[in-house]
Amino acid sequence: MAKIKTNYSCTECGGVANKWAGQCPACGQWNTLVESLVETGTNRYSQAPQSLAQTAPVLQLSEIDALEVPRFSTGIDEFDRVLGGGLVSGGVVLIGGDPGIGKSTLLLQALAEMAKHKRVLYVSGEESGAQIALRSKRLGVENSELKLQAEIQLEKILSTLIQHKPQVVVIDSIQTMYSDALSSAPGSVAQVRECAAQLTRAAKLSDVTIIMVGHVTKEGALAGPRVLEHIVDTVLYFEGDTHSSFRLVRAIKNRFGAVNELGVFAMTERGLKGVSNPSALFLSQHDTPVPGACVMVTQEGSRPLLVEIQALVDASHAPNARRLSVGLEQNRLAMLLAVLHRHAGIAAFDQDVFINAVGGVKIVEPAADLAVLMAIHSSMRNRPLPRGLVVFGEVGLAGEIRPAPRGQERLREAAKLGFTIALIPKANAPKQQIDGLQIVAVDRIDQALSKLR
Ligand code: TYD
Ligand code: MG
Repeated sequence: MAKIKTNYSCTECGGVANKWAGQCPACGQWNTLVESLVETGTNRYSQAPQSLAQTAPVLQLSEIDALEVPRFSTGIDEFDRVLGGGLVSGGVVLIGGDPGIGKSTLLLQALAEMAKHKRVLYVSGEESGAQIALRSKRLGVENSELKLQAEIQLEKILSTLIQHKPQVVVIDSIQTMYSDALSSAPGSVAQVRECAAQLTRAAKLSDVTIIMVGHVTKEGALAGPRVLEHIVDTVLYFEGDTHSSFRLVRAIKNRFGAVNELGVFAMTERGLKGVSNPSALFLSQHDTPVPGACVMVTQEGSRPLLVEIQALVDASHAPNARRLSVGLEQNRLAMLLAVLHRHAGIAAFDQDVFINAVGGVKIVEPAADLAVLMAIHSSMRNRPLPRGLVVFGEVGLAGEIRPAPRGQERLREAAKLGFTIALIPKANAPKQQIDGLQIVAVDRIDQALSKLR
């Protein structure tokens, strides 16, 4: 067999070098050269399908029928929900998350369900067949029609796909796979990119649905090249605190549906169980109101969730006061503290400020701002906020409170769960009264703080 040629290309400028070097000879960036395959014109893996393929005709957009993509269910409602209604044939899904959070568990459960109607294959590079069998016993799916392959070599997996023609394949995980064509180790940027690209091509050519598991880095981003997220159709992330039993699956990108849809699961003795009514999960139970806690309503995809935001403000003894944020954006915290100082005259430069969203939820929407500031203010004064208070609203740099989308839905959910006072942006104030909910509408941050003194 002819030796496969590789060279080194720069991830920044695309420059090519024959030998590896620390610095890209083209753009001068450091550590950007990665091994890649040299295009030889013929492709080893897809020769047969390619020779059958015809050049796609150039069409007028208006002439093309917009066919709804047919979907099929994964057999797990919450999983279908994040996927935008189910899986699509030929679609490629990437699912990331911390180790031990439940990626393999969820996929094994889903595959076992799908095996009832489809040919499915679970490729594991992390666990042996015996380990997976043990897990399937625990999950109560050991009698399933599911096919299993413990393999890490890409070429062998691709030939299994041709031989067994599965309709749904799980690759657990993309970082353990390696292609013979490259000399770098499994998990390296070049290997991950090559394997993902080959698998994606196989998915598109033979209409199989591929779900890849991806490892995450310490910072929580998907490990490997950024292109990984570009080539796949859907990117999902597992979130949640491994110490608590709740897990969230969030869609970050979805070519076939809405993003920011959320699936909520509880990890039980027998695997992950969907939670269909999760709105009150992320509230901690205090008998009496405590300082530094403020409940907000966040809107995740199509459903509102109530989440407790906690703040602790304490005198700092370090030269630089600490600002730490778990589940909320760190930079946003610095900005909010500056707004608090400039527009409400409350300084925190000599105070350590810690904030946390209860239950390991990640809140990315700016509608959390007002709740964060209320919690910080409450902790500073060591006075609890009123019982039954719920808050949402974005805080602008000029100290104004901006409306949050879908305010009515948020308010109705809060009322349903027994909250009695809502501190919200003026523009979100409902025209009709909501039963049992007193509305306090504000449009400036200083006004918000003084209303609840
Ligand atoms: P796993 O799916 O192996 O995580 P990942 O593939 O994301 O690394 O998750 C395993 C964890 O879940 C492990 O800590 C044990 C726990 N678990 C349960 O609590 N119940 C179960 O039924 C199973 C299978 C696992
Ligand atoms: Mg795993």
